[in-house]
Amino acid sequence: MTDIDDTTHSATEIAAARERVAQPGSPGFDGVIGGSMAEFSSEYMTYIEDYLDADLKLVADRVLDMLRSMGELHQGFAVSQLDHVLQTATRAERDGASEDMIVASLCHDIGKTFSNMNHPAIAAEMLRPWVSDEAYWVVKYHQDFQGRHYYARIGMDPEMRRRHLGHEHYEMAERFADDWDQTAFDPNYPTEPLEHFEPLVRKVFARTPRRG
Ligand SMILES: [Fe+2]
Ligand SMILES: [Fe+2]
Repeated sequence: MTDIDDTTHSATEIAAARERVAQPGSPGFDGVIGGSMAEFSSEYMTYIEDYLDADLKLVADRVLDMLRSMGELHQGFAVSQLDHVLQTATRAERDGASEDMIVASLCHDIGKTFSNMNHPAIAAEMLRPWVSDEAYWVVKYHQDFQGRHYYARIGMDPEMRRRHLGHEHYEMAERFADDWDQTAFDPNYPTEPLEHFEPLVRKVFARTPRRG
């Protein structure tokens, strides 16, 4: 598990944050602002930081919106990319995975909302401030592990995972790829809906994010 603090945001807090960060201009700041960052005063930077803190309350909503949009993404598979990640997360949860790994399972392909290219790294860096090192690492390298199941058929090395042998999260990455991710294309699997995972998504993305 993670040592990141768990907090929660109420619906009222989220609504207030949404209204606040959407305000145009700089309501409430009456000092000189300046036209470049180099000219911003420390008072103005403090004021901006306060807005960015409010903005963080909206991250869970953005994640849920991105996941919903994956319902339109089929890419030739029998299930949509939303169904695929829901099925991956459902399998993880039923297998007793940690909260971080369940959220990682739900979000591991969220980079595909931009493009399939580099999608593991895109997803991993999006998640990194809010999840354990293990969840981050598994998402970042999941394709290297997934390759065992199909890379041979597209002329790539199916054992690309070997480059990670000995890594502390290697076994979890194998479990993720072999038991949850690569099996999650079954249209007949009894998969939980997004609403089932929403409270956990809100809990994890309400944590105080870490930098770096
Ligand atoms: Fe993937
Ligand atoms: Fe996947």
